[in-house]
Amino acid sequence: MKMLVTGAAGFIGSNFVFHMLDEHPDAQIVALDALTYAGNLETLDKVMDEDNFSFVKADIADREAVFQLFEDEKFDVVVNFAAESHVDRSIEDPGVFLRTNIIGTQVLMDASREFGVQRFHQVGTDEVYGDLPLDRPDLFFTEDMNITASSPYSASKASADLLAMAYHRTYGLPVTISRCSNNYGPYQFPEKLIPLMIANALADKPLPVYGTGENVRDWLYVEDHCRAIDMVLQDGKVGEVYNIGGHNEKSNLEVVKTILRQLGKPESLITFVGDRKGHDLRYAIDPTKIHNDLGWLPETKFDDGIRMTIQWYLDNEDWWQKIISGEYQQYYEKMYSNR
Ligand code: NAD
Ligand code: DAU
Repeated sequence: MKMLVTGAAGFIGSNFVFHMLDEHPDAQIVALDALTYAGNLETLDKVMDEDNFSFVKADIADREAVFQLFEDEKFDVVVNFAAESHVDRSIEDPGVFLRTNIIGTQVLMDASREFGVQRFHQVGTDEVYGDLPLDRPDLFFTEDMNITASSPYSASKASADLLAMAYHRTYGLPVTISRCSNNYGPYQFPEKLIPLMIANALADKPLPVYGTGENVRDWLYVEDHCRAIDMVLQDGKVGEVYNIGGHNEKSNLEVVKTILRQLGKPESLITFVGDRKGHDLRYAIDPTKIHNDLGWLPETKFDDGIRMTIQWYLDNEDWWQKIISGEYQQYYEKMYSNR
């Protein structure tokens, strides 16, 4: 089985490559990534020399490059992680989100049709369901809910999901879609809540919490997400959407306080800053379908996952220090200095 994994130098894509190489040593994995600011080839260092792994630097929206690769490699399966993924950046500059997340997905699906790919899996997000109110803990995202969007990022991901379903119905492309809640774990870019707070706390810098900090996210350890996608690829039904999440809701403030406690840093580092525009209040997945149909359940509890994640950032300071010392400095200044 030959599999193309796009966005493989990013957070979840790289963890998925490690998962696949561990669990399916017979699979041939081709990793593709444009190596944007969020892609880091060093992340893939430990698998670069594996016989059943290769890396290609390419942009998923580059039709010529993508078609050439598909013609050369004859993939059986495509898993599309490649995306612009940070909501705050999409609010600053939506254009690149539309190009990568929508056009890029279209190009990959066109190539998949042309070269007879047997499964196209689109890695989606729970943000396409909009948000839930804070005072209705009985409500959860289910697969049959309406698609809506609060940010240019979620609008671009919703568009990609709609296109994928349309390619399935119109052309019979064998598509599956998964929609996961917030991931955390090793190799997450330090612009996202958990690694950003770990890095700032370690440097005794203020921890910028948007608004009141009461917004709720449903946290899932990245390996549990990767295992769920693997199960969808094996036993998922073509044309279906699977929500992935482990009923692990926490307010941002709870997450930040947990990080401070574990690092032995004072809560006085918490600094409330201006809210994110259009800030979604609460995400919460109902994972009944993937549990009942595929037998998936999360394996890592938040208390264990956050401990492992903090330890990983302590043990791999080189990896993230390089990132935050470069171009990221300017991003941080721009986003946080006058907030
Ligand atoms: P990430 O930003 O860490 O990684 C994205 C990767 O895609 C990077 O390596 C980047 O270089 C690459 N990329 C960007 N534009 C590209 C292009 N035009 N061509 C080729 N490669 C390109 O993101 P992530 O957090 O790993 O998210 C991966 C996928 O999972 C995304 O589709 C995202 O929407 C989805 N998702 C993420 C989460 C989460 O909590 N992080 C949750 C649910 C779904
Ligand atoms: O739900 C899935 C989504 O989760 C994915 O589709 C996205 O790719 C991923 O980035 C994530 O989106 P969020 O916007 O929820 O993640 P982020 O880490 O940016 O923010 C989490 C929460 O923390 C959110 O309520 C905003 C808040 N926050 C974030 C940052 C970066 C802060 O309060 N301060 C910050 O500095």
